[in-house]
Amino acid sequence: MLRLKGLNAHLGRSHVLQGVDLDLPRGRISAILGRNGVGKTTTLRTVMGLVAPSSGEIWLEGRDVTHWPPFRVARAGVGYVPEGRMIFPDLTVLENLRVGERRPAHAWPLSRLFELFPPLKERERNRGAHLSGGEQQMLAIARALVGDPSLLLLDEPSQGLAPLVLRELLAVIKKLREEGVSILLVEQNLRFAEAVADEIAIMVKGRIVYAASASRFRAEEETIRSRYLTL
Ligand SMILES: Nc1ncnc2c1ncn2[C@@H]1O[C@H](COP(=O)(O)OP(=O)(O)OP(=O)(O)O)[C@@H](O)[C@H]1O
Ligand SMILES: [Mg+2]
Repeated sequence: MLRLKGLNAHLGRSHVLQGVDLDLPRGRISAILGRNGVGKTTTLRTVMGLVAPSSGEIWLEGRDVTHWPPFRVARAGVGYVPEGRMIFPDLTVLENLRVGERRPAHAWPLSRLFELFPPLKERERNRGAHLSGGEQQMLAIARALVGDPSLLLLDEPSQGLAPLVLRELLAVIKKLREEGVSILLVEQNLRFAEAVADEIAIMVKGRIVYAASASRFRAEEETIRSRYLTL
């Protein structure tokens, strides 16, 4: 589905991505875990074409999409849900969804989005600013689905959400996988990532230093966590 080969990226003077290799099989959920500032968001932004890689390759479903502009990456089937959700606070739920709409109703018409996110239906005419954190996250995901992605990039969706809401979010992400959407998830919440991902990758200083199936990760978790994730 998605393959990153030796991806390097610079932001200003810092060498943020230092040879990222990653393979996301179709229909799977891969999570990238890592401490603050290791380059997780930059990886997603580079895939999306928002950061230009200085070297390396990005392959999407057998096509080399390196250096494609963001609109073209989106059209090729990649949906991006940025860190912090970035919904429009002054627009209603409905208006937020319409912004992402290319042409009406293909794979995810409003009726289907509201089936997946019942709370959004109830809040249809409320402004973004008046939604809870969980509702905002759902809206951000729903907005990305309007573009009919086959691959969804989720940047720290669990951030700041209460346990009950996290459980709903987990269910939604699993449902999307059932619907055939592949997902690249960036997380700092190890429990959340573990509960949903098929594959776990760990990023340290702009590089993937560990990648394994979730079950293998669970077996090795103590060692891996103390080596790469604890401060
Ligand atoms: N515009 C920028 N110019 C220079 N350096 C930047 C810029 N944006 C980010 N960086 C640096 O690049 C590094 C990686 O940032 P990135 O946002 O990808 O990390 P992250 O893993 O997503 O972190 P977090 O967990 O805090 O979200 C950080 O050290 C950050 O300070
Ligand atoms: Mg980040």
